[in-house]
Amino acid sequence: MRDAQPKAIFLKDYRQPDYWITSTDLTFELNDDSTLVTSRLSLVRNEQAQATAPLVLAGQELELISVAIDGVTLAASAYQTDDESLTIHSVPAQFELKIVTRIYPAKNTALEGLYRSGGMYCTQCEAEGFRRITYYLDRPDVMSVFTTHIIADAASFPVMLSNGNLVAESESNGLRKVSWHDPHKKPAYLFALVAGNLLHKEDEFMTCSGRKVALKIFVEPQNFDKTDYALDALKRSMRWDEEVYGREYDLDIFMIVAVDDFNMGAMENKGLNIFNSSCVLANPATATDAAYLRIESIVAHEYFHNWSGNRVTCRDWFQLSLKEGFTVFRDSHFSADMNSATVKRIEDANVMRTVQFAEDGGPMAHPVQPDSFIEISNFYTVTIYEKGSEVVGMLYKILGKDGFRKGTDLYFARHDGQAVTIYDFVGALEEANGVDLTLFKRWYKQAGTPVVNVQSQYDAQSQQLTLTLRQHCPDTPGQSNKLPMWIPVQLGLIGANGNDLPVQVEPASAWTASSQVLHFTDAEQTFVFSGLAEEPKVSLFRDFSAPVKVEFAQSDDDLLFLLRHDSDGFNRWDAGQRLMLNWIAAAKEGEFTLPAAARDAFDALLADETLDASMVTYLLSLPSEAYVAEFSPVVDPLAIHNARKTVQMAIARELKDDFIRCYQRLNHSDAYQPVPAQMSARALKNLALSYWVKAESAGLEQALAQYDAADNMTDQMASLVAVVNSGDRARAESLLARFYERWSKDALVVNQWLSVQAGSAELGSAAFIRSLLQHEAFDWRNPNKVRSVIGAFANQSLVNFHAADGSGYELLADAVLRLNEANPQIAARLLGPLTKWKRLVPAQASLMKAQLARIMAHGSLSKDVYEVVSKSLV
Ligand code: TRP
Ligand code: ZN
Repeated sequence: MRDAQPKAIFLKDYRQPDYWITSTDLTFELNDDSTLVTSRLSLVRNEQAQATAPLVLAGQELELISVAIDGVTLAASAYQTDDESLTIHSVPAQFELKIVTRIYPAKNTALEGLYRSGGMYCTQCEAEGFRRITYYLDRPDVMSVFTTHIIADAASFPVMLSNGNLVAESESNGLRKVSWHDPHKKPAYLFALVAGNLLHKEDEFMTCSGRKVALKIFVEPQNFDKTDYALDALKRSMRWDEEVYGREYDLDIFMIVAVDDFNMGAMENKGLNIFNSSCVLANPATATDAAYLRIESIVAHEYFHNWSGNRVTCRDWFQLSLKEGFTVFRDSHFSADMNSATVKRIEDANVMRTVQFAEDGGPMAHPVQPDSFIEISNFYTVTIYEKGSEVVGMLYKILGKDGFRKGTDLYFARHDGQAVTIYDFVGALEEANGVDLTLFKRWYKQAGTPVVNVQSQYDAQSQQLTLTLRQHCPDTPGQSNKLPMWIPVQLGLIGANGNDLPVQVEPASAWTASSQVLHFTDAEQTFVFSGLAEEPKVSLFRDFSAPVKVEFAQSDDDLLFLLRHDSDGFNRWDAGQRLMLNWIAAAKEGEFTLPAAARDAFDALLADETLDASMVTYLLSLPSEAYVAEFSPVVDPLAIHNARKTVQMAIARELKDDFIRCYQRLNHSDAYQPVPAQMSARALKNLALSYWVKAESAGLEQALAQYDAADNMTDQMASLVAVVNSGDRARAESLLARFYERWSKDALVVNQWLSVQAGSAELGSAAFIRSLLQHEAFDWRNPNKVRSVIGAFANQSLVNFHAADGSGYELLADAVLRLNEANPQIAARLLGPLTKWKRLVPAQASLMKAQLARIMAHGSLSKDVYEVVSKSLV
């Protein structure tokens, strides 16, 4: 909470700290109602600092007991504290500092610092949570070697963990004491501590140089049968990072702990990753295929941080994308290698187009390297993560596989053990490849989504095709008149027979033949392709080669042609989505009938058993309402919902028999395994089922039959979703009741049950959501439950969230105010959908704005909520 207006922090004000901390020795005494933290630090003055520089340590919500320098306790007049810091006026050039603080983990509802989750203790220190444990130089450029001692009741806390290796262990008078030592110096945000009554599953990994690493996943006893998949994903990640990046693990032990109360997905603490239980625990009966895929990618993501984030870390939080963008790029590439690369690309593009483009077009738009922030927790965004990953992906396309690897090798070798900037990363890529990426760096500094306009002209006489590309980037808060970006355009020219034609282009210097990429770097450029005896179909931005919006007029016939023939799977999907967007636009104006040619194309897709079934699933899936909204100049959520439904019904009716045939072909019962071939088949089968349910009542009967027969959560959940969204309210309610009865003891399954209801257009009116919030399964203190109800409602149930009476907006504002103080990070994250009012039809926009104003009028907003609301009201 604050008294004065919160102040922004600027990248341009960065300077090194006046003191460094070379070693950190922490003792935690975990008592029933409080924890005593004794911190012993070795400090040394920065050579660049003045001898008179005071020592200013960050600290929040701490009870200070004592401060001593070189063994001498300081008088109260020697230092000064306020809500956020401890200042010691005069200190020697080198000294030992001992600070004792008391903290109250059981009262910590913000889930930052040391807190209790269920029966255990755990920590979350990124970004600035360590300052809630003790006074410290809590900034990532201060790197220190940590030793941690934990003392607690032996019976209640048989497991006590911290970073690094266990170095001592003893027990007396019912108290257990353990000591951990981490030999790798690290910033405080990577510190972790866990204590509890936990079981663990253990395995082993042999590194490429022949060292044995012990792998352990710690869980509460009831979750012991949900650890196998994460262990398997971990081993595959470790091998992959050796093979693809040459990165070997560097400790003798690697631990993962699952906790139920967690603000985000997971955290890469050195040697001791802490995971939201929803992102690590799975077995076939309780987790869907989607959950398995999420677990695989998050386990990989956190593991990959060991190099991209921990060994080489960020100089300051403006560099967050240095570790997050790069690590998302790495985990995406890993998932692409483990599953279908095309499908992964489609999923990533979907997130960019529905969520990131919206952020880039809204009041919170910021560059991948922001210039300022009020609260860093608000900058763990799709722009930092996903756009950051896309920017690294463009560097990969520009440099090629081998050039990119040369660059990352140099980056890791040169900066190991350092806290660096995004430009150090780009600099290593430049130097390793002898290229100048000055122009490219604009991607890091300019916010907003570039729009590329394309004009094409074919001249039969000269057998030439001319493409004229123009780019512009809209203004974003604080930024106007942007410069052109370096946009890699991967492209193909397709002949009438559906085959790719050879590409000869002028200027040839703008073309990288090996990766088929055109380098588009000016505001306007013309490229001439010759030797084309026929007019080719143009396939642009293959593989989603740049995170841009494209304006290129292609007829529905051309789009259908690309959907059928493009050799680039991503663009087959993209052509289909563009076609469906056209249909949805047409349906808004009136009746819609599915064109016969499209019907035949879909028909062929459904029957083609040689195609990857998950690819077919995406090709036949309509763009989501959020996707349609992002492609509409003015957003009318109800009109979008109805038009999309019209098209969906037309497809369901026209292709009913094909869906039934496809469903029956794929509906056999091999023992469940979370492997790509099975997951793809289930995805297509359940898509077919969902259309069948829309087409006729026999489909609904089949969904109920599948529910009863299912031995895995993927099929069971797909049936439940189909029934809930069928419009048959009585059957929906009775199946939901049966489901709850079966699963009420399993928190992760209950959360899925909550979100199916909250995200349903059929059920989820604001009044219904308010009743769900009263259910015994709901708990405001648990972020997963808040996301399952409030998050699902505001992000998925668009007709209800945007109800004409404003009840949806009011509900969300109530939730934000309720969580503002208890958990500011979650409160601010929930706000997202309320910030997008400018694109809405006027009546909705003003209702939404009124709720933002109501929040703003609240007396004491957290920094987190204040920043988002104040920026959104501008
Ligand atoms: N670094 C984490 C990641 O891998 C992000 C994270 C986890 C986080 N928990 C957090 C960020 C809490 C802020 C607050 O993506
Ligand atoms: Zn991360």
